Amino acid sequence: MSQLHVQEHTSLELIKGDFAGKDILSLDQFSAHDIRRLFELTHHMKRLVVNNEPSQILAGMIVALLFFEPSSRTFGSFASAVKWLGGQTLEIQDPATVSSVSKGESFEDTIRVFEAYSDAIVLRHPQVGAAREAAAAADFVPIINAGDGNNEHPTQTLLDLYTLYEKFGRLDNLVGLLAGDALNSRTIHSLIRGLSLFENNTVYLLSPDALRLGLEDLSHFRRQGVTIIEITSEQDIPRNCHFWYWTRVQKERFSEVENYQELARQIVVATPQLLSTYASQDMILLDPLPRVNSVDPAVDADPRAVYLRSQIRNGVYTRMALLALVLGRS
Ligand code: NCD
Repeated sequence: MSQLHVQEHTSLELIKGDFAGKDILSLDQFSAHDIRRLFELTHHMKRLVVNNEPSQILAGMIVALLFFEPSSRTFGSFASAVKWLGGQTLEIQDPATVSSVSKGESFEDTIRVFEAYSDAIVLRHPQVGAAREAAAAADFVPIINAGDGNNEHPTQTLLDLYTLYEKFGRLDNLVGLLAGDALNSRTIHSLIRGLSLFENNTVYLLSPDALRLGLEDLSHFRRQGVTIIEITSEQDIPRNCHFWYWTRVQKERFSEVENYQELARQIVVATPQLLSTYASQDMILLDPLPRVNSVDPAVDADPRAVYLRSQIRNGVYTRMALLALVLGRS
């Protein structure tokens, strides 16, 4: 695969109430107003699906799903979202093996080729900044970042925030515990950005020392207004959290498997005992999944565990809403 030439300082285009034709690369493009607009439509999309009323608003449109990294939920829910709206997908999983990338085609050329075949490109890629690079290469269609390395995963955050919004009726004045791999988890990075769009949110970060949030990210997020409190022991978990967000150690970001194994052993697992000691009755437990030594399956029966319930279903509804807006059909 060719090296990407990421211009870190290219400024992001703000949504400012108008999603049509825009690349969706980072939560930093959104305002609280944009999130509310998206969630009104998400609510409508949910009704369509729950009432089994497929729509045709993406009829005649093709969305390319270009996934250079493995994915179950993001890939599956985007494909499902397009189909619920009457559109079609062009699905390339592992382009590095099955497309001309394996013959040495550059990333930019690959993006230019697929924009000729589609109305939008949903891109997952192992390199930080790949979505921005794709957006610079694509002249005609919007790029949606479905995860770029350990940087961001904006559409995951939209569904995470929607799950919180449905439960609490607001996205301000929330206290959350984010556990696991704060250094590498793109879902944690985007979620903190998302929470910083609203007033008076506090997040506790529970990670082993070696997996603490990077210093640059920490100061960037603090400047954006979210209160961040780092803890290293389960005994420091406050009992007033509205939500817990558990993540796995991101094995694919380690070059040495021994380092990964060592850190995976240091992770606090969400067990029924942990919930009964530190969790309030009214909180919810989220996990972007896959769970690998993150949440004990014994917790699944607890009604506070939403990762295989509302959280996962909301992935389809939020992505339906986002596609409808970005493709200018809502
Ligand atoms: C996450 C991802 O790929 O970043 N999964 C997802 O998209 N639901 C989290 C993970 O892989 O740990």
